[in-house]
Amino acid sequence: MKKCIFLVSICLLLSAETFAQDIKLPAPNTNGGMPLMQALSKRQTSRSFDTKELDKQTLSNLLWAANGFNRSDKRTAPTASNRQELEIYVALASGCYWYDAKNNTLVQKVKEDIRAVTGKNPFVGTAPVNIVIIADTEKQANKEYQYIDAGYISQNIYLFCASEGLSTVVRAMVDREALAKAMKLTDKQVVIVGQTVGYSK
Ligand SMILES: Cc1cc2nc3c(=O)[nH]c(=O)nc-3n(C[C@H](O)[C@H](O)[C@H](O)COP(=O)(O)O)c2cc1C
Repeated sequence: MKKCIFLVSICLLLSAETFAQDIKLPAPNTNGGMPLMQALSKRQTSRSFDTKELDKQTLSNLLWAANGFNRSDKRTAPTASNRQELEIYVALASGCYWYDAKNNTLVQKVKEDIRAVTGKNPFVGTAPVNIVIIADTEKQANKEYQYIDAGYISQNIYLFCASEGLSTVVRAMVDREALAKAMKLTDKQVVIVGQTVGYSK
């Protein structure tokens, strides 16, 4: 009996450890931000990134703006035939996470810091947030559409960053094979683009 209680305790501890690695985000604040026309006026690419981390509220707002649910089953970014074939992964210093938009949680997929592998520009290794847009090839309607669909997510990120005074750059220059390996993607998942977000230096 004692042995059984000991084993159950160990299992509970291990599962607590597993959950502890995920990051529960605060609810996104969907009321803030600057007027759309001003955000469009400020939208730009920047390649200057400080190492300062984004707080959890800003991260939650950013990811919701990028591809969160703005209706019960649809998102801030459109997809062809509503396939919702794209997923957002986030490489932080503490690991690489899948953005579970329904539960507003970052689910840890990799424990290591893989930011340096998310692109070829030197700043990716030290910038606080590198978003990677992934396509699920089993969900896609047509291969061409995944690139169009990713563009909407990227522009959502650009506009959020313009509104918040954050720096961002979308990056096609990615070693997709190395990144897919580092992210432990399945053979059905494809890296579309990376996008770095952070404070300007
Ligand atoms: C599909 C796409 C891929 C891009 N790839 C890279 C990249 O790999 N590295 C980079 O530094 N910038 C990249 N950029 C950013 C462009 O260089 C930038 O958008 C362009 O110079 C125009 O500047 P603006 O965004 O400030 O208007 C990419 C932009 C797009 C739309």
